Amino acid sequence: MSNYHIKHLEEYFQVYRKSVRNPESFWEEVAEEHFVWRKRWDKVLSWDFNKPEIRWFEGAKLNITENCLDRHLPTKGDKTAIIFEPNDPKEEAQHITYKQLYERVCRMANVLTEQGISKGDRVCIYLPMIPELAVSVLACARIGAIHSVVFAGFSANALATRINDSECKMVITSDGSYRGAKTIDLKGIVDEALKSCPCVETVLVAKRINSEVKMQEGRDKWLQPLLDHAYQDCSAEVMDSEDPLFILYTSGSTGQPKGMVHTIGGYMVYTAYTFKNVFQYRDGDIYWCTADVGWITGHSYIVYGPLANGATTLMFEGIPTFPDSGRFWQVVEKHKVNQFYTAPTAIRALAKEGVEHVEACDLSSIKVLGTVGEPINEEAWHWYNETVGSKKSPIVDTWWQTETGGVMITPLPFVTPTKPTYATLPFPGIQPALMDEQGHEISGNQVEGRLCIKYPWPSIARTIWGNHQRYKDTYFSAFENMYFTGDGALRDEVGYYRITGRVDDVIIVSGHNLGTAPIEDAINEHPAVAESAIVGFPHDIKGNALYGYVTLKDVGESRDHNNLRKEINQLISDRIGPIAKLDKIQFTSGLPKTRSGKIMRRILRKIASKDTSNLGDTSTLLNPEVVQEIMDNAL
Ligand code: PRX
Repeated sequence: MSNYHIKHLEEYFQVYRKSVRNPESFWEEVAEEHFVWRKRWDKVLSWDFNKPEIRWFEGAKLNITENCLDRHLPTKGDKTAIIFEPNDPKEEAQHITYKQLYERVCRMANVLTEQGISKGDRVCIYLPMIPELAVSVLACARIGAIHSVVFAGFSANALATRINDSECKMVITSDGSYRGAKTIDLKGIVDEALKSCPCVETVLVAKRINSEVKMQEGRDKWLQPLLDHAYQDCSAEVMDSEDPLFILYTSGSTGQPKGMVHTIGGYMVYTAYTFKNVFQYRDGDIYWCTADVGWITGHSYIVYGPLANGATTLMFEGIPTFPDSGRFWQVVEKHKVNQFYTAPTAIRALAKEGVEHVEACDLSSIKVLGTVGEPINEEAWHWYNETVGSKKSPIVDTWWQTETGGVMITPLPFVTPTKPTYATLPFPGIQPALMDEQGHEISGNQVEGRLCIKYPWPSIARTIWGNHQRYKDTYFSAFENMYFTGDGALRDEVGYYRITGRVDDVIIVSGHNLGTAPIEDAINEHPAVAESAIVGFPHDIKGNALYGYVTLKDVGESRDHNNLRKEINQLISDRIGPIAKLDKIQFTSGLPKTRSGKIMRRILRKIASKDTSNLGDTSTLLNPEVVQEIMDNAL
């Protein structure tokens, strides 16, 4: 029996049991039946979470683009692979067929090779959500170069950090990008970043907004003329299953962003298999994920997962509020979208706009609704279910991470009965565990703990680029022989999981992971600032917003606090990006600290959340008096 497409609950349980009893033969079957390999593997899995070392389909040879493109050409060459919906609805949408996508990827791959990129080189992609972004990603994979996509909302400084960390030889960017009614000078940001990136030899520039940009002689090249002269076929580099496919940076609770490394074979198998089942994708469906390819959701479920299934995937360049707050629904109606996958923060923002925008559009094409990125609150879940889904389209609340590569805990639509705010059951092959703080597994139901995974799955990130020790420390040291997710979760009476949120210093703001340390570092660069601490507090739309406590060097100095707040937020914007700006900044004479000098964030979190009835034990503080001052002046 093929397990590739799970259609009812009993079948899910059967498949799940099989995947746990004998994971290797389970994954071998999936890999064998649904993908093309140049050479079969010698061994399905070797692993050791202590080292940690994980290898899937060892010895196998393949190219992921042959699975995403070439193999579809005989049967689906004229089928639309990508629908491109531009920022401005007045601009025509593009329908790119599999054949056209194949040719565009091959041309791009040939350009990369001509420009000196070869297997193993790192290429940074800093592009808006235009077809060139997907094409560049696939072109890298075609020739075995490692792509590192950086979300085009990051600042020059954040971009430079990422380019330098993985020593990218090339940057692919555009003259600029559209964002609603505004344009953003992407090329200018790249120029600024590259002042401190000696590793970059070439910059390829796509034209999008036709702005005047400065081109640096010898380094910067317009992309289109190179593509025009390139050949439209390019043989695929034969890659090892465990060769890196890409690096994608994610925030850590401390220090620099972590360059998560995903490898080819396992990532392909897992993203394709999850895509098929999590969205119950059927041939002919139009699937739309509103994420940006700059995040893992876009990598796995705009590009690789859908294309490996020969699906039609929609890429949307714009924002939900341009030209008005009905844009998402207008796009659904226009392209007759069948599966719609977005983030809770977008749902909350659009719910606030009322139902008129939704009701103005025909959403009858929708079969499945999805959410990802943060816990979805009950109210937003019901609004999504009733207003968008008319109570007939199941909501898949998909829990996963940049590190996991693909969806881990999720309902399967029309298979798993849903429950508001619950990610429900593990996907086949995923063995979750809830752990207590002493490191013991908590068995049974109706329990809460730290969420770990006991056994490897094919798309787990294999390392942090250039820092394997950090990979081990972050994910494999908290609990013995387990992958630790950094999230808390509870298991209800029937075994459904609900993710309760981060248990570390990562804060999820509007679905974006933000580490507190880099933001604090940015604030502390301000000459007037002595020290700072960032915590999250609940926010109606963003899920969490950031609250900063700042102490100044010279308390006697009478500086305009509002000006200081603006300067601090500008610094954060420059160092990281506007997404990391603080909603509230409170100036204080000190921060509550333990005797060993650690900031007591627990107390700051409670004050920011206006939950001060029980602050817990403050007797161990070095400076308990400051707590009252902070409470009295809380914003
Ligand atoms: O805290 C969890 C939250 O997002 C974190 C992962 O963020 P990132 O690596 O940026 O990947 C986001 C897209 C996969 C997780 O550790 N998270 C993600 N999905 C959910 C979620 N929290 C609750 N429910 C979810 N469905």
